[in-house]
Amino acid sequence: MSFDKFRAYSFSGFALCSVFFTTLIDATPSHADQKVSFYQQVRPILQAHCAGCHHPRNPEGDYVVTEFVDLLKGGESESAAIVPGKPDESYLVKLITPEGNEAEMPKAKTPLAQEQITLIRTWIQQGAVNDSPAKVEYRFNKENPPTYSAPPVITSLDYSPDGKLLAVAGFHEVLLHKAEGDQIVGRLIGKSQRIESVTFSPDGKFLAVTGGTPAERGEIQIWDVAQQSLVKSIPLTYDTIYGASWSPDGKLLAFGCSDNTLRAVEVATGKEILYQGAHYDWVLDTVFSKDGSHVISVSRDRTTKLTEVKTQRFIDNITSITPKALTGDWQPSIAILHRIRFWSVVQTGFPSCIRSSVSPIA
Ligand code: HEC
Repeated sequence: MSFDKFRAYSFSGFALCSVFFTTLIDATPSHADQKVSFYQQVRPILQAHCAGCHHPRNPEGDYVVTEFVDLLKGGESESAAIVPGKPDESYLVKLITPEGNEAEMPKAKTPLAQEQITLIRTWIQQGAVNDSPAKVEYRFNKENPPTYSAPPVITSLDYSPDGKLLAVAGFHEVLLHKAEGDQIVGRLIGKSQRIESVTFSPDGKFLAVTGGTPAERGEIQIWDVAQQSLVKSIPLTYDTIYGASWSPDGKLLAFGCSDNTLRAVEVATGKEILYQGAHYDWVLDTVFSKDGSHVISVSRDRTTKLTEVKTQRFIDNITSITPKALTGDWQPSIAILHRIRFWSVVQTGFPSCIRSSVSPIA
């Protein structure tokens, strides 16, 4: 509509005028004059609507949105998903823009809201800058260790197999105490602020630590106990990681995630060898059977599940009426009895898990 025409209409009545005026305001890109933040505004949209199908594990269309370089690059089409400064040449924009009521992406789902599409377009228009804070996690290190103004909540403890050390979860770190408790012999300071589980390998040489930064990233750390050095850091998922356990041969590490999955990695390579999604709630703890063939996992919804490692197959729920569950005939159950874990529901009703450990020489 030309401006003259608009004026003519607007004179015809106040109501009509206000309707048109609103339309005009909506048509102007509301973000044009403001800098759109990738980290604060765009990333959460991608995380909520795209990352489920475009994560590194098995990305649809060979396209990954969780790494910035890949997000720009694109996937199997070999068209650049994002061309900085040029939203109209960016394949991603084409795919998220609805035709009628449907858009190509997110595939087979409701299109993004117009406001979200505008944000993404504007961010690309402004140069598609990655303003994610660099190395936020490295706030603490050996030279600059965490300080405590009050005793932290201890989420996990583990005695070394020889009974000489006690690993205690702290903030951004794991403290290695002498088992008698009278001396700290090491501070294993890592990237993750929240530590959820600490577990010595069966030979005591390594310590597995799971944790992360809540609602941002999960991490698995493998520490060399004698050297007190970080051997491996494996980033996984968008939230803290729980309940690590070693296979009896020390080759695999199983753990639980808040995306309701039970997973295991090969420690030497970091390769994921088990991924099981049969739980309906966060997976808070795991344990291998004594022969290493199965993993038992427990969830926030208080269910316990049995999974075969080799086939990644969910076998069954374990309940108090599972045949032989508490007798010696059944290998995995012995493992449960072997490690004592306390589960508590605090007064707020929010379940919390505190991992305890029994001294091997007690
Ligand atoms: C339910 C799964 C699913 C979701 C959610 C999803 N996608 Fe996709 N995406 C696919 C599949 C499958 C393909 C492969 C092409 C096809 O089948 O259409 C694809 C392809 C793409 C491609 C093309 C890659 C290339 O170069 O070939 C882009 C870009 C893309 N998606 C962006 C997005 C964005 C942005 C979102 C979120 C707003 C999203 N997708 C959400 C499944 C999904």
